[in-house]
Amino acid sequence: MIDKDYQIATKLVRGGHNRSENRETSEALYMTSGFVYDSAEQAAAAFRDEIDTFVYSRYGNPTVKMFEQRLALLEGAEACRATGTGMAAVFGALACQLKSGDRVVASRALFGACHAILTKILPKWGVKTELIDGTDLAAWQAALATPAKLVFLESPSNPVLELVDIAAVCDLAHDAGALVLVDNVFASPLYQKPLELGLISLFIQPPNILTVRVGCLVVRFLARPALSKMCFYLFTVKPALPLAPLMLG
Ligand SMILES: Cc1ncc(COP(=O)(O)O)c(C=O)c1O
Repeated sequence: MIDKDYQIATKLVRGGHNRSENRETSEALYMTSGFVYDSAEQAAAAFRDEIDTFVYSRYGNPTVKMFEQRLALLEGAEACRATGTGMAAVFGALACQLKSGDRVVASRALFGACHAILTKILPKWGVKTELIDGTDLAAWQAALATPAKLVFLESPSNPVLELVDIAAVCDLAHDAGALVLVDNVFASPLYQKPLELGLISLFIQPPNILTVRVGCLVVRFLARPALSKMCFYLFTVKPALPLAPLMLG
């Protein structure tokens, strides 16, 4: 197990690595959708989350788990959930947090598909978004004077490389009781860790920040386990009944 205090180079190579009993040098690719169990009872317990084991590759598999744990370590996050694409991570994060009647404040310079979700899809579901100049802290302050559920920003933005002062916006958002979602495609966690920037407001309110990198979502929710669980709900929602007879090894 790699400690969070190890050098970044060590985390990049060894973070989350979980060697199988075959002692492979590189991360093994598990090309399976399902897993087998010793008994129907064990399968049922796995599907009820009573035992810590893999169930279905969309919820997690050993290869993806290594990636998620490495990313969480690099970002300084409590948890990471990998998705097939960046937009799945963005949409899942928004869909898990927002409901009809909620308001979002977002920087105007967003990746096109994110802009479309906020301005074309969410309004049909009763979620309003106010787009502002993300470089203007006074604009954030003015927009957050009206209650907002979530702040969405991208920095550096794609494609115009606009920079938002993430720490300052986190402060304003948390003072206003809003969650912050940072879409982060260009600056790798070697150079920018939005979760750490959000810690500035630790003593005001738990810094609830989600960071989206292309194809994964990382979170740090201090003292908000229910929120954290909700954040990943879409990715992990399981069928009510396990198909136990099909899964015995
Ligand atoms: C800032 C940003 N967000 C989201 C995405 C979407 O990622 P994907 O194309 O993997 O869905 C991209 C893709 O380049 C991006 O640059």
